[in-house]
Amino acid sequence: MEIVITADAEAAAEAAAGAIERLVVKHPNAVLGLATGSSPLPTYRRLIAAHREGRLSFASVRAFLLDEYVGLPADHPESYRAFIQREFTDHVDLPSDRLQGPDGSGSDAELRTAADRYEASITEAGGIDLQLLGIGRDGHIGFNEPTSSLGSRTRLKTLTETTRVDNARFFDDDVDAVPRHVLTQGIGTILDARHLLLVATGASKAEPVARAVEGPLTAMVPASALQLHPRATVVIDKKAAAKLIHANYYRHAYAHKPEWQRF
Ligand code: F6R
Repeated sequence: MEIVITADAEAAAEAAAGAIERLVVKHPNAVLGLATGSSPLPTYRRLIAAHREGRLSFASVRAFLLDEYVGLPADHPESYRAFIQREFTDHVDLPSDRLQGPDGSGSDAELRTAADRYEASITEAGGIDLQLLGIGRDGHIGFNEPTSSLGSRTRLKTLTETTRVDNARFFDDDVDAVPRHVLTQGIGTILDARHLLLVATGASKAEPVARAVEGPLTAMVPASALQLHPRATVVIDKKAAAKLIHANYYRHAYAHKPEWQRF
């Protein structure tokens, strides 16, 4: 695992957007996995700017969402598809039919089919080249809450109350409006991506980051599954790095990283 500690959230976004930009320039038909939530927003803003400056085209990219709420009407502004369109893809040249997310609109039986179909779509696209991730206060990635199987695939999950309270800010602070259920890529699905890029900023992420990076591999901290991945990059600002015991080593390793190894 590579830990990149930056001065602040903007520098973290610069590092994350740089990795995505380099991938897409090199492989214009790259397959991206997109996270929603607050953490990747500055990264998306930088990618939009790079597109506007003519440096970056997403015309041949395919993109897959990490997760989707169950039961929100398709046109609900806080559905993750609407969120990613508003915050990112509507501002670049990614054709809308090249953006896919799990379909959380059906009945119970339909949700199972939708989850299987989603897995099949990712496989048919050749797998995800780079999966952008955030981390929840409870250590979740995607919406794989604590105790999620480390081998899980896309499926229905029930959100913890911590996550619902955290996400109430997107629903006018009305926790009752936050859906209880989601479809999420499983931890096994996420681990299949060829590069995992987790971005976390701010003091509220210091504890889960430390547990994920330096704690034991455990289903109680789903993000600790990154320890299993051969190419996982964790980009964090100083505040999110505050509880890492080996922060100085990560800084040292990054500062002396051979050029050929840069992500
Ligand atoms: C979003 C997702 C979640 C978030 C996590 C952190 O698609 O799957 O795992 O990345 O809840 O959310 P923020 O970035 O809002 O703190």
